[in-house]
Amino acid sequence: MTDAVKLMKQEVGRAAANQVQSGSIVGLGTGSTTAYAIQFIGERLKSGEIKDVKGIPTSFQAIVLARDFGIPLISLDEVDHIDVAIDGADEVDPQKNLIKGGGAAHTQEKIVDSLASKFIVVVDSGKLSSKLGTQFLLPVEVIPMAVTPVMRAIKALGGQPELRMGVKKAGPVVSDNGNLILDVKFDQGIDDPAGLEKTLNNIPGVLENGIFANVADEVLIGEVKGDQATVRSM
Ligand code: 5RP
Repeated sequence: MTDAVKLMKQEVGRAAANQVQSGSIVGLGTGSTTAYAIQFIGERLKSGEIKDVKGIPTSFQAIVLARDFGIPLISLDEVDHIDVAIDGADEVDPQKNLIKGGGAAHTQEKIVDSLASKFIVVVDSGKLSSKLGTQFLLPVEVIPMAVTPVMRAIKALGGQPELRMGVKKAGPVVSDNGNLILDVKFDQGIDDPAGLEKTLNNIPGVLENGIFANVADEVLIGEVKGDQATVRSM
């Protein structure tokens, strides 16, 4: 990660954290940008600027960060609403549709982000795209015994799936839910994000895919000019 990208991620994370109000139930997303938002929420709680905030984590990573930064956690069984969710994205189109799942956490992220009254996406400007699927492969979480038929079904839809392999771990990436991840290339990108999201989820064995169509309420974009980072809202 370059210093400029780090600065954009930090500032956009700070801007989202500043939207959290006392008494809120907050969905805590996954990834390096959201990690800054979690840090800044924790710092605001520690300084007494806000109080009574509870977090709903979207991954093992979010649980660990929330604990590190002193944000009390709560489960979906214990709440009837989520006020705001903050989460990153891998690709964002002009209609605020997203590709997520670079961290293999998109299934729990989609559950939490979709339940929030306000879902704030935090990205650096490198994530913006005129058409989803042209910059990032589409992650699809698959139940292990179904991986071969699901790959066949995705090929029939025009996608080229590849099993995501571990780094510093032999064999495939295993998600927090115990499943495998396919990264799918669509040569011409994705023409109909909402349609493909449903079609993929209808394949038996697919748990969830990384298209988030019509879920984001606000996209905060970190930009950098010289050594100055600014944040704008899409
Ligand atoms: C994890 C995600 C992340 O939010 C996405 O990959 C963006 O991560 P980062 O902020 O590190 O670029 O969807 O499943």
